This record gives sequence, C-alpha cells and structure tokens, in this order.
Amino acid sequence: MNISFLLLKDFRNYRHLELRLEPGVTLFFGRNASGKTNLLEACYYLSSLSSVRAERDHDLCRWGAQEFSVGCRVDHKETSKTIKIRVVVEPSLRRKVTVEDVTVRKSDLIRVLPAVYFSPDDLYMIKRSSASRRRFLDSLLGRIDPEYGRRLSRYQDALTRRNNVLKKIRTDPSWRKTLESLDGILVESGSMVIARRLRAMGDLRKEVSETYAFIAERPCDVAYSSSIGVGGGGDEPGVESISRTFHERLLASREEEMARGITLSGPHRDDIVLTLGGKEVRYFGSQGEQRSAALALKIAESKMLEAVFGRKPVLLLDDVLSELDEERRKKVLSLWDFGHQILITSTDPIEGLSPKLAEFRVQGGTAEPYRGGA
Ligand SMILES: Nc1ncnc2c1ncn2[C@@H]1O[C@H](COP(=O)(O)OP(=O)(O)OP(=O)(O)O)[C@@H](O)[C@H]1O
Ligand SMILES: [Mg+2]
Repeated sequence: MNISFLLLKDFRNYRHLELRLEPGVTLFFGRNASGKTNLLEACYYLSSLSSVRAERDHDLCRWGAQEFSVGCRVDHKETSKTIKIRVVVEPSLRRKVTVEDVTVRKSDLIRVLPAVYFSPDDLYMIKRSSASRRRFLDSLLGRIDPEYGRRLSRYQDALTRRNNVLKKIRTDPSWRKTLESLDGILVESGSMVIARRLRAMGDLRKEVSETYAFIAERPCDVAYSSSIGVGGGGDEPGVESISRTFHERLLASREEEMARGITLSGPHRDDIVLTLGGKEVRYFGSQGEQRSAALALKIAESKMLEAVFGRKPVLLLDDVLSELDEERRKKVLSLWDFGHQILITSTDPIEGLSPKLAEFRVQGGTAEPYRGGA
C-alpha cells in the first residue's frame, strides 16, 4: 500500500503543494523550519484526523487562512482510493472527510491509510512517567477499536467527577451517596479498559520482543503493571473478575482516597514496563537501549495495525535515522523494506540509503524533486 499523490492547501506553512510519490523510500530533506515535519504531519492527519503535535485543528491552518485542505490518493494492490479532508476553522470549526467523495467517519480513514509516525521524542515514551506509555497504548487501541476510545473517555469522565466528589466529602459527608454511584460507572468502564489492554499486551509483547531482538540482538520483555493487581499470570482475567478486584480495591482504599482527594488505583495509574535481563529499561537502559526499545514499540504498533487492517502502514520517520548508528540504520531499513512505503525526513541528503530512494528538497513551503545535486 502506498500514497501515490499528496495535496496540501493552506496546511501549516504550505500554501499549495501537489506531490507525486513512489512506493518504497522517499526522503524529504531541507533546513530547519522548512516544512518537513509539517509534510509528515499532513500524512498522519489523513490517516487519523489528528495531529502528531497540535492539540487543535486551528494550529494546522496556515496563519491568516480560514480553512485548509489535505488530500491523497492511496494505491493498494489493484485498487486506488482518494481521501479528502477539508477543515474550516473560522468562524467555527467544520470538518468534511470523504473517501471516494463519500462522507466517512474518522475511524474509517485508518482502514484506507494506516500510518505510524516516529520521532526522536518517542524516546520520552521510555524515559518519562507512565502517562506517556499509557498514551501510546491508548492511542493504538483507540485506532484499532473505536469502542475502546469511548470506554476510555467514559472512564476519564467518571474519574474526574469522582475526584471532585472525594474532595467535597471532606467538608460535606452527604456526597458519599454520589461517590457510590460513581464507583459503579468507574468500575464498569475501567474494567473494560483494563481487559482490552491486557488482551492487547499478548500481541504487543510478542512483537516488541521479536523486534528488539532483531535490532539489538537480545530479548526485551514487556509487561502490563496493574495498580489493582490483575493480569501478569498465564490466563488473562475476564471483565467480571477484574470488576470484582477493582471494586474491592476501591473499598479498601476509600478512607485514604477521601483523605487525599484522589482516586489511587485504576487504569489511569497503570503502566507498561519494559525490561532487559530483568532490569527496567526506563531506569537502567543505556541511551541506545532506550532508543531501540522506543523503536521496537513503534514497529510493534505498525505490525498490530497491519494485522487488523490487512495493509502495511506507511511509516513516517521524522528525523529518526540521524539518531541511529550505521548498523541499526541498516537493520531498521531492512526490516521495513518489505513492502512498506517509508517517508523520511532529514536536514541533509543521506548517502546510500536505498537503491529505490526518491528525494525531495523542502524549502519554505515547497518540495521539489531532487536528483543528487543535479
Ligand atoms: N499554522 C501555521 N501556519 C504557517 N506556518 C506554520 C504554521 N505552523 C507552523 N508553521 C511554520 O512551519 C515551519 C516549518 O515547520 P516544520 O516543523 O515542518 O519544520 P521542519 O522542516 O520539520 O524543521 P526541523 O528540521 O527544525 O524539524 C516553521 O517555521 C513553523 O513556524
Ligand atoms: Mg521537523
């Protein structure tokens, strides 16, 4: 599967850009602030209707413009489909998303164009707090399974309300009744979230460990660490058993939660723990090991999307290769050269990257084909 044509209108620093793309590896090179990340961001937006960095669609609209459009043609085997997204940001946000001129939902885009975005910031996913690893898993599951996203927002909504009530109880005990009814929603939605995450962990674990072994020649293990103490054994527990454990945990920590005014256990406190030789990569891994672990998570994401959608995701590698040594660079590209379209950015042309390489020079909101300085 590959993007064969890309169109940007008033997207970030691009006024109007039309690009023909080939399958295989395409490099976009250019100076800082020329628009390389913006190009990959547009591709990711076509896959997910969300940005790799902006919170709001307003930020994607070229400054001074009131609307923007992105579109692409995606070739897969003998078929070809056109995705068009038009977003009006002023005076109020309106989005129109079509595939073959038929209006579709956000979750339909990934079926046509699965994509995975990599950036050097992915390292933080390993180094930083559990929130970044939960975000990784939630974002992956949300794309695979829209129902997961709905349950997670229901859970987060109940959690916010519950934390407010816990604070109020300290001065007004009549709020206890509300707490009990919120516990019901929290446990119900939270248990489904945990069960879905545990189910995904089986695939994630296999893919991460295989990929890590390929890149770095040693195994890496990934496990779900649950704040209510479920999972981790052989058979994954069902939703009912998770609900019971979750509920018991809430009852046991009720006094402490009221004293502190926050919910102390649940999916919002869980983590994914990566270990090498039994030691946590987050604390003991070298910079290279942490980077390889981040890469392994992302490649696992790509494999999981492929398993669900039956297409090899487009890989958007933003300034990633410059961070890797020669050996790892080769391995990463050899791993991905099995039918994935790969779009790479770099500040400079990269020598000997691939015989099938196409290159574009990006500058000031334009991207021109480049043939080795000719
Ligand atoms: N909404 C917008 N409208 C117009 N320009 C924008 C908008 N958002 C960002 N820009 C500008 O786009 C330019 C290019 O940004 P981009 O992140 O794509 O650069 P880059 O080529 O990836 O640079 P680097 O090599 O530093 O990562 C920046 O100068 C930024 O200020
Ligand atoms: Mg950039």
